[in-house]
Amino acid sequence: MPDAPKTLPATSPPMTDRYAVIGHPISHSKSPQIHTAFAQATGQDIAYTAIEAPLDGFAATVRAFREQGGRGVNVTLPFKLQACEFATDPSEAARLAGAANALRFDGERVFAENFDGVGLVNDVQRNLGHALKGRRVLLLGAGGATRGALLPIAQQGPAVLAVANRTADKAHALRGDFAAHASIQSGGYAELAGESFDVIINATSSGLVGESLPLPAGLFAPGALAYDMVYGRGLTPFLRQAREAGVTALADGVGMLVEQAAEAFAWWRGVRPDTREVIARLSVPLV
Ligand code: ATR
Repeated sequence: MPDAPKTLPATSPPMTDRYAVIGHPISHSKSPQIHTAFAQATGQDIAYTAIEAPLDGFAATVRAFREQGGRGVNVTLPFKLQACEFATDPSEAARLAGAANALRFDGERVFAENFDGVGLVNDVQRNLGHALKGRRVLLLGAGGATRGALLPIAQQGPAVLAVANRTADKAHALRGDFAAHASIQSGGYAELAGESFDVIINATSSGLVGESLPLPAGLFAPGALAYDMVYGRGLTPFLRQAREAGVTALADGVGMLVEQAAEAFAWWRGVRPDTREVIARLSVPLV
């Protein structure tokens, strides 16, 4: 009779799955902190790092990360458009936005999603308690940030969905691009005169250069929410304008940031993390 084996067959320890955020610059990114907190809270064994890709080296950086065993990446400025092009399987949200902020690698395939819009919608509805259904919703700006938000907002069934932009033609072009999916009003800021909205979202980069927008008086309906997509900057020029117009429900984009991260985490890991504690930790006072 052969001797019974003296040792159990060697089992390899479970591999830590690798994820990263890719951008340029990247040092400011809160994504490693957010995803590490999610992983700890949900008991998921992942490592999440930040990678600065050269401006002309997005695809090469993603390929190298994948070859080293990367399972997925978040993508931030200025690579969101390239991320969508890089994917073999972009979602409808990513295709309509023309941009992706999350990739998942599966064999030879690269799935792409854009979670910015759903992150915004979740923050506005669940965290801030402003339902969008049947409400009058206005997006300021007609760039990539608005493009990513339109479909998820439209899916909530607002009574009115309007886009106003400094360059009115860009707002009209968005209306055309989304015509099959949503009924959108478009125009310049002057055309907003006499209108009022329940939820007004600043998706322009005007605040980043310290500028306010030429918004007509009476734009904020009683009880309106003023939401600025930028985060960590306190009271932005847009939020100050809103407060001076009597708005008390003011929010910056920290909740959108954390909610889009939660969507990506759930997409990768199959577990949805709680967001409240992380949002609270990253929030800065709006003063
Ligand atoms: P993002 O991807 O962040 O949306 P983008 O595509 O460059 O960036 O779009 C920037 C948006 O901010 C645009 O709507 C832009 O208006 P124009 O289309 O007229 O350029 C808007 N924007 C930037 N600076 C602005 C300012 N000082 N005043 C008003 N709108 C501004």
